[in-house]
Amino acid sequence: MRIKKLLVAVSLTTGSLLPSLTQAQNNSVIAVQVNKPIADVQPTMWGVFFEDINLGADGGIYAELVKNRSFEFFKPMMGWSVKQPLRENDPVAALTSPVLVVNRKEENTANPRYINVTVDHVAKGNLGLTNEGFRGMGIKKDLRYDFSVMYHQSASGVKMHIELVDSTGKFLGGTTVAPNEAGSEWHKTAASFTANETVLKAKMNIWFEGNGVIDLDMISLFPSDTWKNRPGGMRADMIQKLADLKPGFIRFPGGCIVEGFDLSQRYQWKKTLGPIEDRQLIINRWNFEFAHRPAPDYFQTFGLGFFEYFQLAEDIGAAPLPILNCGMACQFNSAEVVPVGDIDPYVQDALDLIEFANGDVTTKWGKVRAGMGHPAPFNLKMMGVGNENWGPQYIERLKIFTKAIKSKYPDFKLVNSSGIAPNGDMFDYLNKELHAMKADIIDEHYYQKPEWFLANAKRYDNYPRNGSKVFGGEYAAQSDKTVSIDNKNNWLTAISEAAFMTGLERNAGVVSMASYAPLFAHADGWQWTPDLIWVNNLQSYGTPNYYVQKLYSTNKGTNVVPALMDGQAVTGQDSLYVSAVTDKNTNEVIIKVVNASANAVNKVITINGAKKLTPAATVTLLKGNSVLDVNSFATPEAVSPVASTVQVKGNKLAASLPAYSFSVYRIGMK
Ligand code: AHR
Repeated sequence: MRIKKLLVAVSLTTGSLLPSLTQAQNNSVIAVQVNKPIADVQPTMWGVFFEDINLGADGGIYAELVKNRSFEFFKPMMGWSVKQPLRENDPVAALTSPVLVVNRKEENTANPRYINVTVDHVAKGNLGLTNEGFRGMGIKKDLRYDFSVMYHQSASGVKMHIELVDSTGKFLGGTTVAPNEAGSEWHKTAASFTANETVLKAKMNIWFEGNGVIDLDMISLFPSDTWKNRPGGMRADMIQKLADLKPGFIRFPGGCIVEGFDLSQRYQWKKTLGPIEDRQLIINRWNFEFAHRPAPDYFQTFGLGFFEYFQLAEDIGAAPLPILNCGMACQFNSAEVVPVGDIDPYVQDALDLIEFANGDVTTKWGKVRAGMGHPAPFNLKMMGVGNENWGPQYIERLKIFTKAIKSKYPDFKLVNSSGIAPNGDMFDYLNKELHAMKADIIDEHYYQKPEWFLANAKRYDNYPRNGSKVFGGEYAAQSDKTVSIDNKNNWLTAISEAAFMTGLERNAGVVSMASYAPLFAHADGWQWTPDLIWVNNLQSYGTPNYYVQKLYSTNKGTNVVPALMDGQAVTGQDSLYVSAVTDKNTNEVIIKVVNASANAVNKVITINGAKKLTPAATVTLLKGNSVLDVNSFATPEAVSPVASTVQVKGNKLAASLPAYSFSVYRIGMK
């Protein structure tokens, strides 16, 4: 084999970006041996990582349009404004506001605040509230919207006119509710209406009319076109993008939000169950994490809680993978730890979660699940203990969790953290300790430059096969650098991930799971880039990186088979990266080839060991015109897969591999 030399990125402006090879292409063939499987591909192999970052949940997949619906944000009226047109220039008006924030924390710790509105012989249009939504409200023409509110009053007498308006105040649809229950109890009233226009950033007004005093809480507006049309559900276009990936697992709820800035802000799954008005909101740590991307209105309402995550996993056919706090807060932030002697409640949370997911309806937590409408178990088989935790403190706590969980559920698999980076002292320490503990699955995170991904396509080629499995739990190629706001989801990053993933697939005997991170980002509300799927209030699009993920997950196969050039795995020779699997369900061989050079390459692929092959292969090609290409709301499929067929002659296939391309061949075996 000729010697190769890697020339790394030259100039971002010239478009000459990828490492290129100085050597000429050789004539070696790529030989795929379909009858000599090396390893099984786990059904979980390609999954998704969900975290409430970048407005992923509130303002994202959770379809609630009203921001701060229960007045529990740090500033209780954030997102709301009081409208009194007749008193606009009246300095006394602000001092005598008819809207009072009331806090009943002694009687209701989960949802202490509500508003008290005095409507003193008011005509429509003179007293109102406006909610700005999460960076506006996306409203669709002809779609039904469902308004609801909890109220409490001693006598009826107040009407509320609900209306959606655009930025000029133009009416887009509305309804009227006249709460008529009186007494000491809280009641709910609801009404629906249809919007007459599509608007990206609408607002909601509530105009009061009549005479009386009314308490209001949980003021809510949902579109009716939610995922599976569930009332109060999730945004269908975003969930469809996940379903289209056919993910093997879904990891939730993070990410750093599992850890929290401090332990008081850690994610506590038990507080995310039951009626939404009883789910205690907390601040989202991405609210203030990045001074350069502040999001002071970012909170976790938990309208989307653990029950909904399990239900989502079931809906999209993905194995659930919850990650739990291990008694340590984010080590970049407060680095608080719970004393080892006080860790029992944390461990109990883990044990109870298994019972919540799998327990019989007669068990305490199984009964809670059944009460929420799902008597059948969710079939939970694995859980993460800690997110990006590190150091001896982590190992000490992890051992306690492991002992408690394994003694009750010996077959249950645990995902363990190897820290924040895939190398260095922190990683080496944890990796050694975890292997010594015979960890089931070790979670590795790679937020690295594209060159790292290319160079690491062989990272696992010599890993032991009989020890702990690897979970590439968070990864994304960074076009600039980690947490830079200049990172782009361009074709360069996507193709380098595709090349790296040939190495994950070839090593499916040790790598059992992998997921890109983060998953979603709102164009007006993101903190972290790059991200797999970008959304605004109405649209969503997959990045080139999304299509790479999709080509892997929808061409997963069942068994890894050798794909060699000159007897070696193809990990950069001729700038090519290759892996192959067979699919025993469809009786096909699936070959993935990345050409990471600026030149087109022609190669012969031989498929050996099959009695007969179909005369044509389907080839799905993903490529950009330039490595800087990105997708966008205007051109959502600029870089997206294109399918065609190619002839198979005997056992040979002539592969034309365009510059900077990712090709997936599927060939039937008879
Ligand atoms: O994916 C964004 C963040 O990156 C995750 O919250 C964290 O686990 C990692 O540092």
